[in-house]
Amino acid sequence: MFRRTTDGGDAGEQCAADWCLSGRLLYESHVTGTGARYCSIVTQSVSGSELAKFESPWPMSRDTDLEAWKQQLANLSQANASLRPAKTGGQDARRMWDLQLVCAPIQPRFLRDNESEIEKERVVMAEIEGVHVGFCLSAPGPSEADPLFVQVVAVAPEARKRGVGLSLLSAAAAKEPLRDIALATQPDNVAALAMNERFAVSLGANIRRVPLGTFRHGDLGIRRGDGYRSWHIQR
Ligand SMILES: CC(C)(COP(=O)(O)OP(=O)(O)OC[C@H]1O[C@@H](n2cnc3c(N)ncnc32)[C@H](O)[C@@H]1OP(=O)(O)O)[C@@H](O)C(=O)NCCC(=O)NCCS
Repeated sequence: MFRRTTDGGDAGEQCAADWCLSGRLLYESHVTGTGARYCSIVTQSVSGSELAKFESPWPMSRDTDLEAWKQQLANLSQANASLRPAKTGGQDARRMWDLQLVCAPIQPRFLRDNESEIEKERVVMAEIEGVHVGFCLSAPGPSEADPLFVQVVAVAPEARKRGVGLSLLSAAAAKEPLRDIALATQPDNVAALAMNERFAVSLGANIRRVPLGTFRHGDLGIRRGDGYRSWHIQR
C-alpha cells in the first residue's frame, strides 16, 4: 500500500515511506534483495508556471503548435496506433487538450486538470507514428467492488474507424481485469454507442443500460442535465 507523506525531506536513503514528496519531486522507495532501501524519482509534479508554457496562446489562431498538429493529422499514415500511459510534465496534458478540442462533445479542460489525471495514472495515449490521435481517461471506483469508470474516449476525426477507440478501451480495461466497467453516453452519440457495444462483445460480456442514479455523476465524468445514459458491462 502506498502512503503519501510530505516529510520525506531530501530524498534518497532516509526515505521511510513507500513514496514521498519532497519539493516537487516524487520519490518511490524500493527494498533491495539484501533488505536495503533506496529511493528513485518516479515523477515530477509540474508547477503552474511550467504548465503555462504548454497553454494555447490567445487568440488561438496564433497557436502554431496546434496548426502543426492539425497538419500532421491531415497527413496521417495508415500505420497502426501504438498505446502508452500518459506522462507527467505538461506535454501530454496539452496533447489531451488538443484532442478534447477536436473531439466534440468532449470539452477542453484546464491543463492542470489533465495533468492531475495523468498523475493519478488514469490516462492512456494513442499515437500513430508519434502523432497523438487519441486518449482514454478511466478511473477505478474507490472500493474493490466498484467498476472501472471509463470517463472519456477521444479519437481525432482523422484517425477514426480504424480501431483506435476500441484499443484504448481494451487497454484501460486490461489495467483492472477484475472490475466491471461503467460508462455514460448521450443517446445521439452513435459512434460511442457502437464502440461500447463492440467493446462488450470483445470482452465476451453483456452491456446493459442502468438507471442514471446507479453511479455517481462524478465517477462517470458527466454533469447532471446533459442527457447522458449510463451503461454497465458485467465481466
Ligand atoms: C467514439 C469514438 C471514440 C470512436 O473512436 P474510433 O476510433 O472511431 O472507434 P473504433 O474505430 O475503435 O470503432 C469501434 C466500433 O464502433 C463502430 N463505430 C465507430 N464510429 C462509428 C460511427 N460513426 N457510426 C457507427 N459505428 C461506428 C466501428 O465500426 C467499430 O465497430 P466494428 O469493429 O464492428 O466495425 C470517436 O468517434 C470519438 O472520439 N468521438 C468523439 C468523442 C466521443 O464521443 N467519445 C465517446 C464518449 S466519451
